[in-house]
Amino acid sequence: MISEPLRQARAFEQQYMPFIPKEERPLFHVTGGIGWINDPNGFSCYRGEYHLFFQYHPYSNEWGPMHWGHVKTKDFIHWERLPIALAPDTPYDCNGCFSGSALEMPDGRQLILYTGVHRKRREDGLLEEYQTQCVAVGDGVDYEKILENPVLDGKDVPEGNSILDFRDPKMWMEPDGTYRCVVGNRAADGSGAILLYRSEDGFTWTFSSAVDACRNEYGRMWECPDFFPLDGKQVLLTSPQEMAALGLEFHAGFGAICLIGTWENETFTREKVQSIDYGIDYYASQTLESYDGRRIMIGWMQNWTNTGCKTRQNRIFGQMTLPRELHVRDGRLIQNPVRELADYHGQRVAYEDVLVTSETNMQGIRGRILDMTVDVRPVGRRYNWFKLHVAKSGEYATTIRYKPDCSTVRVDRSRCGIRYDVVHVRDFLVRPRDGAIRLRVVMDRNSLELFVNDGEQAATFIIYTPEEAQSISFEADGAVLVNVEKYDLRFD
Ligand code: FRU
Repeated sequence: MISEPLRQARAFEQQYMPFIPKEERPLFHVTGGIGWINDPNGFSCYRGEYHLFFQYHPYSNEWGPMHWGHVKTKDFIHWERLPIALAPDTPYDCNGCFSGSALEMPDGRQLILYTGVHRKRREDGLLEEYQTQCVAVGDGVDYEKILENPVLDGKDVPEGNSILDFRDPKMWMEPDGTYRCVVGNRAADGSGAILLYRSEDGFTWTFSSAVDACRNEYGRMWECPDFFPLDGKQVLLTSPQEMAALGLEFHAGFGAICLIGTWENETFTREKVQSIDYGIDYYASQTLESYDGRRIMIGWMQNWTNTGCKTRQNRIFGQMTLPRELHVRDGRLIQNPVRELADYHGQRVAYEDVLVTSETNMQGIRGRILDMTVDVRPVGRRYNWFKLHVAKSGEYATTIRYKPDCSTVRVDRSRCGIRYDVVHVRDFLVRPRDGAIRLRVVMDRNSLELFVNDGEQAATFIIYTPEEAQSISFEADGAVLVNVEKYDLRFD
């Protein structure tokens, strides 16, 4: 049955989506039909395709009572929009259908596990937000919330843990057919914990154990967990709130971190902790295992701190990152754009061994919708820095700088056109390669995703630069040799 709030939201989207100028949208990154989006949800395989849902408020470009928007794809690049899947329309989720996950059940139905939110006023007048886990079942388009909801609530968290902060279930199916999920929670010390639950049928869930806890080390509340085996290791992803800065690895505020370790006898043992993305605009990762066995991650290409950075006229706000193929190599997370991007490569322009000593342009190397790899290596004496300027014209530019002596990359978007006093510069460490570096840049109008040294680091940035700024240039303090391979991306 389609509830009135869901019917209205679907009708609103249908009525007003056509008014949004095409140029306001990226070409291959997921946005909402209209309005606001945040976290990716329910990123999963279903009936031979990949489904993606997302936190969605169609009615304005601000966060509001959360719905689940819905798209699907065969190749992670071309997405088909589907009707809104969930609306806040029951007593247990009337204040929002928060993040969650999905999977295909053996009987062919699609199972959604999400956080239902309702607010209650305490005796002293304070409004408190209760978060419970709820189930909906559907056919890939329409979903029914089950009568037994909520399936997990405050009774199901360990003694002393928060019954208010309890959200973002990520589920998967074990080879033996049992269901598992991890949920973000807050432990008695006020900082994050990731709880593991199990179920025989996807409907009745019981607590298993706490997989890991923050202990006030990496931020406070841990949101949006994901937990999976990869390349012989076990990986826990989470997005902490209130991170403290630590060196060049972790920045203050909302972070996205990856804990790599082992999972044996139901015990997670951490070995390494790192940032997932070293840019500004990345949060709330979610992964799936593709039909051909790849672990693919998508994230929200935004950070909560910067959600005010938009023009009033923007009728859509928020987009997803490009889906990325993950690996663990030498104890680190490796990320690269899904290989399907190559199917959209258009015109190729390439140069080899171009000597760069001052600012240099190369004919045909320009654009805002592209996939470009730049290889830099020193000639003779060492160089001080190499810079790649993109989305450049007149006063506008975003600059990627590599300093070989300190092995740092700096991305500076302070002249990209965003007229807000927020963080615009990020520095991060890369692995030294005798002065050489490989920078792969994927741009889709107002975004820049950078992959360094074959995916050893990823860094994501929103740049609201006028479309006319198409120029790309290369600059060095010292002398370098540069190879460039640039593909336009085509979607006709
Ligand atoms: C993370 C988050 C989730 C929550 C959702 C609400 O970005 O805060 O924890 O489910 O957004 O929209």
